[in-house]
Amino acid sequence: MTVTAAGIDALAFYGPRCYVDMAELAEARGVDPDKYLLGLGQRQMAVATPCEDTVTMASVAGWRALEQFDIDPAEIGTLIVGTETGIDHSKPAAVYVHEMLGLGENCRTFETKHACYGAMAGLTSTMDWIHAGRARGRKALVIASDIARYGIDTAGEPTQGAGAVAMVVGDSPRLLELDPTTFGDYTRQVMDFWRPLYSKYAFADGHYSIDCYLDAFTGAWRDACEQAGGRDAFSLDNLDACFYHVPFVKMARKAHHRHCETEWGQSIAREDQLATRVRESYDTQVAPWLELNSVVGNIYTGSLFLAIADYLRKLDNAREGGRISLFSYGSGCGAAFGTATVVEGAGNWRQQVDPQPHLDQRHKLDIPAYEQLIRAADSADHNDAPYPEPSQWDLGEGLYYVGTRDHIRHYSGNPANAT
Ligand code: CAA
Repeated sequence: MTVTAAGIDALAFYGPRCYVDMAELAEARGVDPDKYLLGLGQRQMAVATPCEDTVTMASVAGWRALEQFDIDPAEIGTLIVGTETGIDHSKPAAVYVHEMLGLGENCRTFETKHACYGAMAGLTSTMDWIHAGRARGRKALVIASDIARYGIDTAGEPTQGAGAVAMVVGDSPRLLELDPTTFGDYTRQVMDFWRPLYSKYAFADGHYSIDCYLDAFTGAWRDACEQAGGRDAFSLDNLDACFYHVPFVKMARKAHHRHCETEWGQSIAREDQLATRVRESYDTQVAPWLELNSVVGNIYTGSLFLAIADYLRKLDNAREGGRISLFSYGSGCGAAFGTATVVEGAGNWRQQVDPQPHLDQRHKLDIPAYEQLIRAADSADHNDAPYPEPSQWDLGEGLYYVGTRDHIRHYSGNPANAT
């Protein structure tokens, strides 16, 4: 069987039920709120309670992608969970999700880790799986799920967040068709962000990590041009929108600046004439789709796809047939750049993609409650620690982690009931 297309057929986001307001966090840290609101571009930050982990968020997002796009779990032939925040050194989070979603026992299931690049690695390998004819008409489910945590009162604290984006990948996609000949790759060993096995918190050399990210963009973009036989395939003039890994909203602005510089072959200072063109391009091709990132925060491997969710939930039919670019960066580091085409009719799925009803039900934590929650999350993840109680944070119905007994993690509830 010759397969001619592969792409994203369904997409859904799910995240924690609590968030903090960034102006309040800035005030508590003695920082000018504009640093977080304008300097980083963040308005709110999702915070996972001890009952919400990589498995619970991934399962609910996965459930929604299947249910809202009317996909039978029996159709899924591959499940990949991309995460930096796995729940076990050995056992993949994916196998718990496989059970929660009732997938078949012949479904190939595994976890991918490469900081924020894990889900993109999963997405491109499912694209290859389909094009190689291994899918035999089945679909893949790729879920990005993470809790970004740097710790209280650290430089990285305002760039935390949590959430999961689930994508069904198939050979007749309803949303985005991936262009396999345009994907370029980049890898380099750098110490910009890492998390040793003994630490719940990430370590980052923050400003250096931004430089590594931008160099990786240039490296992946150049490789993509070689794959595609020239840069015309990626000309900014032919792109409806550009998507980047978004650890914080301002990073997408920096990435787009580098994108313009790389394509136009010159560095552009703020006062240059070309800087106006960069700004206009950013305002029309990037900024309109960073709203979800600004209220959720960094979700590591899912943050590129959260921006794409924002685009798809606002998609009008005039954009169908247009081309978009995707850039994923994972510290350490690995990156990929490629393009996708918006499928005709994709705009009809706006409502199914839109997580606003879920976001509207989140509740705000004040800063002392947020700090207490972070400490509680640390102590809940131990054998025989007291059960974390979903009602303590007014979480309502859903699927929750409820503690570890005899070194086995326990979950309670059902992804279908989550609000
Ligand atoms: N009003 C307006 N803007 C202000 C301001 C004010 N009062 N005060 C500061 N700013 C601006 C600064 O000018 C700066 O903007 P520019 O970068 O455009 O100059 C911005 O706010 C941030 O200020 P600082 O650079 O001084 O902030 P910082 O030193 O506290 O660190 C950070 C910022 C490096 C991003 C830090 O939060 C961090 O280490 N975060 C974690 C690492 C990270 O996110 N790296 C991103 C690349 S790596 C990656 O993407 C993988 C991943 O997910 C981790």
